Amino acid sequence: MELEIKNITKKFKDKTAVNNFNVTLFEGIYGLLGPNGSGKTTLMRMIADVVKPTEGIIMINGRNRKIKGFSEGMKERLGIAQALLNDPKILILDEPTAGLDPNERIRFKNMIARLSKDKIVILSTHIVSDVEFLANEIVIMKQGSLVEKNTTSGITDKMRGKVWSLIVDEQKYGDIMDKYKISKTSMDNGFVTVRIVSDEKPAASAVEQKPTLEDMFLYYFGEVAEKLR
Ligand SMILES: Nc1ncnc2c1ncn2[C@@H]1O[C@H](COP(=O)(O)OP(=O)(O)O)[C@@H](O)[C@H]1O
Ligand SMILES: [Mg+2]
Repeated sequence: MELEIKNITKKFKDKTAVNNFNVTLFEGIYGLLGPNGSGKTTLMRMIADVVKPTEGIIMINGRNRKIKGFSEGMKERLGIAQALLNDPKILILDEPTAGLDPNERIRFKNMIARLSKDKIVILSTHIVSDVEFLANEIVIMKQGSLVEKNTTSGITDKMRGKVWSLIVDEQKYGDIMDKYKISKTSMDNGFVTVRIVSDEKPAASAVEQKPTLEDMFLYYFGEVAEKLR
């Protein structure tokens, strides 16, 4: 099965929610990752044929026809169960883990992994850990546009040389925070260990670290990630 999203744009008056989006998906689990307002819901609604694109077309197996048997996921558990009832070939789940407790999240992920065979599963989230190990591929969306589509390891490979660990004394911490995107901080005995995402080595004593998807999110959405914390 092939789901082709071609030159899709959605405008609401003068607001462009989705901007010339192109992606082709095959069977597998896709994590649609982006901060709030990046256009995830609008894109999913167009795939689900709930909303008409301003421009572009969506095709399944090269036929330009309406998607039958799709389901738009809902936040409620009942919604997910209902979505799965008619065994759709394309399963679209919008922020499905919102409102789930940690145990329910684990159960949900296991269920999706089990059910995804022969299906295209698209699930959106603004929480990296929801999709880091579940999705075969991550589709990153920013301000309505596709930033990247890649495997988790493909994405983190590209982040090599951008993630650093640095130990500073507490007085210097403020300066570091102002200057860099900080993905983690730990304090011990007046010293602060900071994990920094930066194109350049932040200091001579900084040590390069193995990047994670979380670091990538901070790299692309730094300001937003700060607000979400
Ligand atoms: N019905 C609508 N009318 C006007 N603007 C909308 C509408 N739906 C979404 N938007 C705007 O489009 C942008 C993308 O929204 P949305 O698709 O909900 O993003 P996400 O799901 O990633 O949070 C936002 O700026 C949002 O305010
Ligand atoms: Mg949304």
